[in-house]
Amino acid sequence: MPRVTTYTLRKGSPTKTRTDVVVVGAVRTRGGDVKVAAGGEDVAAAYGRRFKPLLSSMTFRGEPGETLRLPSPEGVRAGQLLLVGLGAEDAVDAHVVRRAAGTAARSLGNAASVALALPAEDAALVAAVAEGFASGLYSFTAYKSGAEPTSVSEVLLLSPVARDEDVVAALERARTVAEHVDHARDWVNTPPNDLYPESFADRVVELVRSRKGKGPKVEVEVLGPDELAELGCGGILGVGQGSHRPPRLVRLTWAPPGATHHVALVGKGITYDSGGLTIKSGAGMATMKNDMGGAAAVIAATLAIGALGLPVAVTTYAPMAENMPGGGAMRPGDVLTMRDGQTVEVTNTDAEGRLVMADALALAVEQSPDVLLDVATLTGGCVVALGEKVAGLMGDDATTAALTGAAARSGEKLWRLPIPEESRKAVVDTEIADVLQANWVRWGGTLYAAAFLERFTGEVPWAHLDIAGPAWNGGGASGHVPTGATGYAVTTLVEYAAGLVPAAD
Ligand code: BES
Ligand code: MN
Ligand code: ZN
Repeated sequence: MPRVTTYTLRKGSPTKTRTDVVVVGAVRTRGGDVKVAAGGEDVAAAYGRRFKPLLSSMTFRGEPGETLRLPSPEGVRAGQLLLVGLGAEDAVDAHVVRRAAGTAARSLGNAASVALALPAEDAALVAAVAEGFASGLYSFTAYKSGAEPTSVSEVLLLSPVARDEDVVAALERARTVAEHVDHARDWVNTPPNDLYPESFADRVVELVRSRKGKGPKVEVEVLGPDELAELGCGGILGVGQGSHRPPRLVRLTWAPPGATHHVALVGKGITYDSGGLTIKSGAGMATMKNDMGGAAAVIAATLAIGALGLPVAVTTYAPMAENMPGGGAMRPGDVLTMRDGQTVEVTNTDAEGRLVMADALALAVEQSPDVLLDVATLTGGCVVALGEKVAGLMGDDATTAALTGAAARSGEKLWRLPIPEESRKAVVDTEIADVLQANWVRWGGTLYAAAFLERFTGEVPWAHLDIAGPAWNGGGASGHVPTGATGYAVTTLVEYAAGLVPAAD
């Protein structure tokens, strides 16, 4: 995570800031010309007629992801100019700007101060610049000897509407959300020998306790194996019993006075998924420290919602277990009794996510929330279907529509998948117990898993996000998304909660 960086909103020309670097956007016009984007006009003017030939001689085309560093011309006080591509002029929106700000953050070299003169004419664009930049600064260096996190300490955000109250608020919100995305990334990136159920829960407790300030606070409770046994959480205990590291269940409560909505969140917290006795291949388990990405996302989102003081009640359950093939491990053939009394015939210990989620969903339903959202790195099939950037979304029409709307604002990509009647039938096709954990049919495994989860959601409106793909970026950093843990779903969940709050006017 980067060191504390101060952000200042300011009106004024980017030629006048004395920062090490000034960041300006570049777009491509319909005619194929490269042109400076809104916010950077004065900088382009300082170059005068030299600007266009200079860019073309450097073969800079203004495409997204492209950057160019130039010494500043006379009349620009910043030491260097960093141009970032925004792509087509008429396609510039908050998502383009967020990504470009992230690209800029990753291209700063050792600059200590930077001015951002990207398109920022309204609150949404200012939020996009701030969020993209803050998010793009992320790096995970905790285990690299001598590595220093980013050195930027001062960020000037230039905007013609810098003095508007809603713009100031949008910047604050973007920063808070980005900070929590970073927490989720840190937890996911932390190696599984250091982040296991107990230590994950401890880190969450520590973070919650560090929150200062007036007003209501998020409360945290951690349940261990004895309490889980008392509650009858056979799924969490079953998955956890193959590991020397016993499971935990973290429960967060955000209950602001006057809340008109109550959202329950559930996130899969498998701190390592070896597959258990149905063990994975070596390649299959290589990135399985990320199998707690759902828990990280719902916890970080809840803390962000609390930090922002959003008047929406949130109850969050994060079941944490390590799926290992130890001597006490759950076997294919075992029958587990879940929190709500349903029995589950285990057939494949690698389908562990649905087992821990079942208990947590059942507990969440007992709170009678208005809506239930769950986030889980649940199935490899979802990655086959939608790739590494797009999450699978399942659930009822209204809840999936609301989440789709939130994702359209956050810029996180998701796509609805069905829960067919056939999957619902397959889930109860067992002579042995009430529910069949998995049926060894490869096709539609993502939908089967969702049909399984659905059985534990009672009558509560529900949506399920399968983030097996986008929780982890196996490729290079791109825009504001770093390599490794992405923090996927945090911003969408916060947007969802914010969207429940009736507008002030
Ligand atoms: N954690 C995995 C899913 C996963 C796969 C996440 C790849 C990220 C990348 C999950 O626990 C799992 O193993 N699912 C199995 C289910 C199957 C055994 C029914 C799968 O999808 O293969
Ligand atoms: Mn698994
Ligand atoms: Zn898993």
